[in-house]
Amino acid sequence: MKILITGCNGQLGTAMRWLSAEHSGYEYIWTDIDNLDLTDREAVKSLVEKEKVDIIVNCAAFTNVDGAEQNETAARMVNSTAVENLALTGRRIIHISTDYVFSGEGFLPYKESDTPQPRTVYGRTKLEGEEKLHQLCPDAIIIRTAWLYSPVGKNFVKTMLNAAEVREELKVVYDQIGTPTYAVDLARVIYAFIGQAEWKSGIYHFTNEGVCSWYDFTVEILRQARLLTSANRFKAKVLPIRSEEYQYATPRPHYSVLDKKKIKQTLSIDIPYWTDSLNECLVKLLNER
Ligand SMILES: NC(=O)c1ccc[n+]([C@@H]2O[C@H](COP(=O)([O-])OP(=O)(O)OC[C@H]3O[C@@H](n4cnc5c(N)ncnc54)[C@H](OP(=O)(O)O)[C@@H]3O)[C@@H](O)[C@H]2O)c1
Repeated sequence: MKILITGCNGQLGTAMRWLSAEHSGYEYIWTDIDNLDLTDREAVKSLVEKEKVDIIVNCAAFTNVDGAEQNETAARMVNSTAVENLALTGRRIIHISTDYVFSGEGFLPYKESDTPQPRTVYGRTKLEGEEKLHQLCPDAIIIRTAWLYSPVGKNFVKTMLNAAEVREELKVVYDQIGTPTYAVDLARVIYAFIGQAEWKSGIYHFTNEGVCSWYDFTVEILRQARLLTSANRFKAKVLPIRSEEYQYATPRPHYSVLDKKKIKQTLSIDIPYWTDSLNECLVKLLNER
């Protein structure tokens, strides 16, 4: 079986690459924007046909939430048009979407059947990508995730570690609630879908287990980082603030918790608790710094 992984240099794409060593029974084609721009419909079609791809795992996206507000066209090209281009190939697709398709105004974990109501360009364009898949590729697997981080790329964990090394204090919001997701855990789930005897199409929600605020997340990042390194390296004090005290260019969801019952039942998996996965990431990240 031949698998095309797009966006392979991003957080999730890199995690897929790391885990491919444990899944040597497949053939892989690794692409990112430098060798396959997904907005180029002909290039996508031609590569998929030439290489006789069986499954596409789409890890590519326009993920900059504030950047999407400023450049809606570019965000739509990657989050929607590119997804359409992939869908038009007629291949099986595993696509990644986001908690931003919801309003973030709820107070119970979002289920797959809840009505999307995006409040940002990023969320709207990601929802459009989902809709393209529903129309053109109804057997696609769509996995919505949230608060993704990994040892590579730009993410909250790395931003907080860098800031804690040079600043005295970090003010972090405590009224936005969600669940961090380690990209390697998400990649494990993607491989689990590929390995199923039967193709399990549909929408699924996946994050790590547990719930926290960005403030709690930061406290735990620094607590673990101090245990793994010299105690005075990440010295900043963490102070809780409300969202209205932070100058966001784009509104952030107050509640991003996703209900994971469906994916747990479908794949018969236990999902790691977020602090355990954070530890796995920090061990890797801090050893490499
Ligand atoms: N990051 C999060 O917190 C988060 C939360 C919820 C859901 N998600 C979703 O999870 C998925 C993986 O996210 P991630 O954090 O791994 O993303 P990422 O690190 O930003 O990686 C995305 C990759 O896609 C590439 N790309 C951009 N435009 C492309 C194009 N036209 N053709 C081909 N490749 C292109 C990017 O290249 P450049 O870097 O050169 O642009 C990058 O290598 C995405 O679908 C995202 O929407 C992410």
